[in-house]
Amino acid sequence: MWSTQDVSDTKNMLDKNKKSGYWIVAVAVILCFATGILIGRYGTTSVADYHNFDVRNLVIDEISAEEIDSNLRYLTSTPHVAGTAQDLLQAEWMRDRFLEAGLDEAKTVPYDVLLSYPRVGVMNKVSLIDEQGRINYTTAGRQPPLGSPEEFSDDILHNFNAFSANGVVEGNVVYVHYGRKKDYEYLLSRGINVSGHIALIRLGAIFRGSKVDLAERYGAIGVILFSDRLEKTSQNRNNTYPDSWWMPGTGAEYGHVGRLRGGDLLTPFYPAIESAFRIKEENHPGLPKIPVQAIGYEEAEVILRNISPENSAPTKWIGKMDAPYSLGPSLRNPGWRVRLDVSTVNERRTTFNTIGILRGSVEDDRYVLLGNHRDAWTFGALDPSSGTASMIEIARVFGKMKRDQHWRPRRTIVFCSWGAHEYGLVGSYEWTQQHATVLGQRAVAYLNVDTAVSGNRTLFGNAFPTLKQLLIDTAKLIPNPSVHEIESGHKTVFDTWLAQSRDRDNVDQPMVGHLGGGSDFEGFSYVIGIPAADFGYMKNGVYPTQYSLYDSYHLASNIVDRGFVHHQAVARMWAVAAVTLSDSVILPFDVLAYASYLNHSLSLLHTKYGPILQQNGVSLKHVRVSVDHFMFSVKHFSENELKNVDQSNIFAVRRVNDKLMYLERFFIDSKGLPDHPETNHVVFSTSSSDSHNFNTFAGLVDLVVQVENKTESNDPEIWSKIRHHLSVIAFLIGEAGRSLNGDF
Ligand SMILES: *[C@@H]1O[C@H](CO)[C@@H](O)[C@H](O)[C@H]1NC(C)=O
Ligand SMILES: *[C@@H]1O[C@H](CO)[C@@H](O)[C@H](O)[C@H]1NC(C)=O
Ligand SMILES: *[C@@H]1O[C@H](CO)[C@@H](O)[C@H](O)[C@H]1NC(C)=O
Ligand SMILES: *[C@@H]1O[C@H](CO)[C@@H](O)[C@H](O)[C@H]1NC(C)=O
Ligand SMILES: *[C@@H]1O[C@H](CO)[C@@H](O)[C@H](O)[C@H]1NC(C)=O
Ligand SMILES: *[C@@H]1O[C@H](CO)[C@@H](O)[C@H](O)[C@H]1NC(C)=O
Ligand SMILES: [Zn+2]
Repeated sequence: MWSTQDVSDTKNMLDKNKKSGYWIVAVAVILCFATGILIGRYGTTSVADYHNFDVRNLVIDEISAEEIDSNLRYLTSTPHVAGTAQDLLQAEWMRDRFLEAGLDEAKTVPYDVLLSYPRVGVMNKVSLIDEQGRINYTTAGRQPPLGSPEEFSDDILHNFNAFSANGVVEGNVVYVHYGRKKDYEYLLSRGINVSGHIALIRLGAIFRGSKVDLAERYGAIGVILFSDRLEKTSQNRNNTYPDSWWMPGTGAEYGHVGRLRGGDLLTPFYPAIESAFRIKEENHPGLPKIPVQAIGYEEAEVILRNISPENSAPTKWIGKMDAPYSLGPSLRNPGWRVRLDVSTVNERRTTFNTIGILRGSVEDDRYVLLGNHRDAWTFGALDPSSGTASMIEIARVFGKMKRDQHWRPRRTIVFCSWGAHEYGLVGSYEWTQQHATVLGQRAVAYLNVDTAVSGNRTLFGNAFPTLKQLLIDTAKLIPNPSVHEIESGHKTVFDTWLAQSRDRDNVDQPMVGHLGGGSDFEGFSYVIGIPAADFGYMKNGVYPTQYSLYDSYHLASNIVDRGFVHHQAVARMWAVAAVTLSDSVILPFDVLAYASYLNHSLSLLHTKYGPILQQNGVSLKHVRVSVDHFMFSVKHFSENELKNVDQSNIFAVRRVNDKLMYLERFFIDSKGLPDHPETNHVVFSTSSSDSHNFNTFAGLVDLVVQVENKTESNDPEIWSKIRHHLSVIAFLIGEAGRSLNGDF
């Protein structure tokens, strides 16, 4: 389809002689456009490949670091929490920027949803109470401004965890490490029962909402969350924000603790539009019943120091806090207690998505979607505004090409700016719930960028198998943003990526990971079955000040990405991938990769869970037959229909593209996974037993883990559920294979 080699050669030529190179490209584009009209009319396509790669180079040239910087400056000038006045202001600002860029349509889309806020003027507090009932120590309840003027804004919300119950609780404290099931089991083995006490839980390892859920189940009366210094500071502990990217001791992490997937808690499965039926808040299974509050690590140290030293924590539970790690529950001083005073309240508010559309020239009913959330707990300079600032720049460049070069993508490109992501991916879930049928029929792929730049070391990419190669091929086209990397011979984003993380099974390729969970692709990929990818620049996972007040413009512009060159690289990557998906005549989906992925995963499943399945008389035979058939079908399809498609026949092109586009939909069971009706993808849905790393066939694995660990009372029905689910997997994979070559 398109050759990477040709494109990078052209790029080098352009770099050498930029001006004349630019003119050559401009002339070529005009010629191509003229040809493009003919293509549109007569459906011939060989020339369109030529048109494609020029578009990609123009995009790479046009995307400007300065423009991204100025977008980010605006976005980070005020906090923009979902459901506040700034949510609407920034949603409208994006709509106006999309229209100004020259997109064909742009609009804000409201949803009326359940959100949560700290009560105005009242601090949420964690206090130490002495034996006489006097307050010996209280946490600050807010984070002091340290870096730049906007940190003084009156609109900054006090520290809180969204969806926490409100109320005051008092008691002893138990340190529960990460608050996983096995942590409670360990405590019980030491004779420590958290019931009736406050749980002090370290952030990390599992989702904070799962921590609160488990704490509640084990009888805790409240939860205090903190991040250990181990993850938040360097060797030189005083080197923190605003001098570096490390977290100061007063930084607390906002974050929601709701616990149902699927967006708005009151309108599960359906969009939160005016006519929606809403379930009652009382006794809502997704809302915690106990108060929860996150505090800074210096504040958590005061609590730790006041826990009685009699039960010391095991080595694995010890981080780098400036305090002894004791388990509790008693406090050091007799008669003292810890008080948790939370006045966080749930409220129905309106949040806004902004949707911008650039219509396709040939297949305007096929959508390539680009998505990023816009809301943040404060400024969200990196998460998510680095992505938002990049998206606006892509819209500007596409609009400019439409105006100056008369370019239109072959397929329609849709820009999606989501609201209320931080409250549980609310904006994206509501929108996919509202448009599920249309998206299922017409969406080609969804490209998500959440935090475009969380660090400046390397690109990372996660994707469904069909899109992995697209990410790799695109990264080869993007100039390396780091001068240092270029000096060490890494000319492109791909070169650094490969040097930083090689695929173990194919050492010539960088590792493209599993999509996992936690960002706005969930509604697209796991509910509807739309192939999705997610990427950005990073250092090594999350960055220390994420979700705090200190994710500011100062952090982005002076510490993490001076010159905005890494932002520029991600924007180029995103734009070029979008152009390739929307302009290629035949969709650039690697279906062979899907086949080998299924084959490989089934082998792993067999190794890991084969014995326990066999002991209980359950066989993977039918799944094996289906996967073998799928491999055969994909190969046959690729070598015959796909390779020989007559590109001058628009029906032949549509037919083969439809097979490619719909392949992912076959893995959707609209009844949902066993016990998880909110998620449908039998191969890739994320697992609900957070503690293991097997990323495939989550529905099956979750059931087997229940049996294996005898966590749920050994339900006699469970083996029926396993057999049932395996039969669904075998059936769906079989049908997916059949769809490529035959009819019924
Ligand atoms: C808190 O308690 C400690 C130890 O009992 C004591 O030294 C300190 O003065 C107390 N602080 C306040 C503000 O009461
Ligand atoms: C923990 O304590 C609660 C309340 O006293 C009790 O109901 C529960 O059975 C205890 N759990 C265990 C495992 O002992
Ligand atoms: C950090 O700062 C404190 C107080 O200013 C000082 O006592 C300490 O020695 C410093 N630590 C390091 C590692 O620089
Ligand atoms: C890259 O990030 C590190 C912090 O991880 C920072 O020290 C360095 O200055 C950054 N480089 C650029 C170009 O901003
Ligand atoms: C299927 O996977 C097995 C085990 O990983 C491997 O040995 C075999 O070659 C694979 N088959 C195909 C056709 O890729
Ligand atoms: C289940 O047990 C296995 C070991 O048999 C362990 O690796 C895994 O983490 C456990 N899972 C849960 C959810 O406890
Ligand atoms: Zn984010």
